[in-house]
Amino acid sequence: MPAVVVSNGGDVPHFEGKITFYVILCVIIAAFGGFLFGYDIGISGGVTSMDDFLKAFFPEVYERKQHVQEDNYCKYDDEFLQLFTSSLYIAALIASFAASHVCTVLGRKPTMQIASIFFIIGVALQAGGTNILMLVFGRIILGFGVGFANQAVPLFLSELAPAKMRGALNICFQLFITFGILMAGIINYFTSNVHPHGWRISLGLAGVPALFLLLGSLSICETPTSLIAQGKNEEGKAILVKIRGTDIVQPEYESIVAACEAARLVKDPFKKLMKPSSRPPLVIAILLQIFQQFTGINAIMFYAPVLFQTVGFGSNAALLSTVITGLVNVVSTGVSIYAVDRAGRKVLLLESCVQMFITQVVIGAILLIDLKPTGALNGKEAWVVVILVCVYVMAFAWSWGPLGWLIPSEIFPLETRTAGYAFAVSSNMLCTFLIAQAFLSMLCHMKAGIFFFFAGWILVMGLFALLFIPETKGIPIDSMFEIWKQHWFWKRFMTEDEDEDDKVHQ
Ligand code: BGC
Repeated sequence: MPAVVVSNGGDVPHFEGKITFYVILCVIIAAFGGFLFGYDIGISGGVTSMDDFLKAFFPEVYERKQHVQEDNYCKYDDEFLQLFTSSLYIAALIASFAASHVCTVLGRKPTMQIASIFFIIGVALQAGGTNILMLVFGRIILGFGVGFANQAVPLFLSELAPAKMRGALNICFQLFITFGILMAGIINYFTSNVHPHGWRISLGLAGVPALFLLLGSLSICETPTSLIAQGKNEEGKAILVKIRGTDIVQPEYESIVAACEAARLVKDPFKKLMKPSSRPPLVIAILLQIFQQFTGINAIMFYAPVLFQTVGFGSNAALLSTVITGLVNVVSTGVSIYAVDRAGRKVLLLESCVQMFITQVVIGAILLIDLKPTGALNGKEAWVVVILVCVYVMAFAWSWGPLGWLIPSEIFPLETRTAGYAFAVSSNMLCTFLIAQAFLSMLCHMKAGIFFFFAGWILVMGLFALLFIPETKGIPIDSMFEIWKQHWFWKRFMTEDEDEDDKVHQ
């Protein structure tokens, strides 16, 4: 008969600690990893709608774009154009597994430093690109940067934060993603009028935050968990005192040491992840990321300029509307920072599903009824679409956006944390790749139906959140196993049966 996994007494502990200036500094520097990710997301849509860029690398798409009678929904459909955008995500998917190993062995900080070096090389290749190969290769290297940064930064933030503020601090990652997307939108708006090399400026400016991440990361600390896991207990404890701003860290220190000792017994984290007791965090982490992408957010983030041109804006107005949605994205992420440790994760996930479902259905209906393959929406209707897109982005920004990164970073026990998180990151990247690669073709074939497609997914993820995602607000990261044992569905997996062959025999 399966036995229940040993607990630390049933109650979730509370540890001393406040937020110190040093922690804020570390959070801001690390979150620049998110900025770079966001910048990459936001920049490609604008660049791929710039005529100078298309003429230089995708002359056929440029030609097609000139034909006014061309089908509205299909004028940008080009596999290579999509490959330019999406190659980054395949690279990031592969890199995240290597990054998980580096994160465990060397720590969170060196993983971020490696990420920044990838970013710098990738940016140089792209901005100096003279042929399509160089561009795609640059984007692949940037993808390695994203894989390493997205693996290390959210874990770093969750481990650094005191439990009661973990949500808010972790969401700084997402906040910086949204800053990055917005900044990319603004830069594209200006560089689209700089001929013929505006696109080079757009791609090259990512070098600035990459350099900042590299230099800044020299002054941040490693997380206490990662230090203690590497056997550097005294150093770990000293950092704990420094980041918690109190000398009373013994209970938290002991809980980390206990988590590290348990983790040391597991010789193969990936094998451990396949065991039943790892199923709850693994399934939730993977599905959260898949669902995050199937909200359809990146159809908007990558292709907003294209989408807004499709509904009838000129190219400048389309880029401007992209800036507006970007701004909404940033501000609404702020709401999430405020609410996540107060209202909790679940209420945000559920409320946003309702909001996103309604907006997707209404956008779909407007396009279905009024946007024919040729011609445009009338001015008023086009603006209504922009407003609906903003309401949709708002909902995503305070829920599935940040929580897609936060929840997977806090639900794994230490022994499977980096490995489990790699599955989350790679699921995100795989689905981001699929959307980036397929969206323009889907828009071309499904037309307005694509919005109903995403609405269907939103319904499914709402039900999943309702039934299967437990509330993790305020629970210390190394005490998370308690929540599975109390959950109506997941408790059946909390058995010890798998541990024997998986542990290092002592
Ligand atoms: C997602 C990205 C998305 C961004 C939008 C992130 O959490 O992972 O794919 O583009 O949010 O703000």
